[in-house]
Amino acid sequence: MVMWVFGYGSLISKAGFHYDERIVGFIKGYRRVFYQGSTDHRGTPEFPGRTVTLEPAEGEICWGAAYKIAKKEDAETALVYLEVREKQYDKKEYLDFYTDLTATSPAVSGVMVYIATPDKKSNVNYLGPASIEDIARQIIQAKGPAGPNRDYLFNLEKALHEIGCKDKHVIDLANEVRRILAEEH
Ligand code: SIN
Repeated sequence: MVMWVFGYGSLISKAGFHYDERIVGFIKGYRRVFYQGSTDHRGTPEFPGRTVTLEPAEGEICWGAAYKIAKKEDAETALVYLEVREKQYDKKEYLDFYTDLTATSPAVSGVMVYIATPDKKSNVNYLGPASIEDIARQIIQAKGPAGPNRDYLFNLEKALHEIGCKDKHVIDLANEVRRILAEEH
């Protein structure tokens, strides 16, 4: 069976697994938010970083990239890899994926998406909303085994720019990080 994985965060620019096809598109009913705490990639337990998750949002869409994995062995390997990389994301959803804003039927049904929910029982690292300035200051401070948290944000900003997506939350945050860094020098 063919497996599809939808990436809306770091997965857009770095899949990290073998895939057969990559398609740019979107899912419906969610928005991308920097509300997930990261203690294993872009932060530490002492100073968590922030990464993106999806928040249900009526009428909104979230752009990203869907990866098709055709072979069973590749799908198994990808899943093992993703379960480690995305282990702080407590839920997997299987959603409709679209490539065309005017289409009424999806390009692919059942794309797998990792989501970090606000449920503090299954997701102890959830941080939730904060002001753009507070999130930016946290991102500036945080770094983890995968590198500085600001690189995660800037990589995502670049990846979204490359796929032609203007995400206000991400752009505002990246601008705020640059503003604060410029002020500090
Ligand atoms: C994703 O990219 O789809 C999940 C969040 C992340 O790993 O940044």
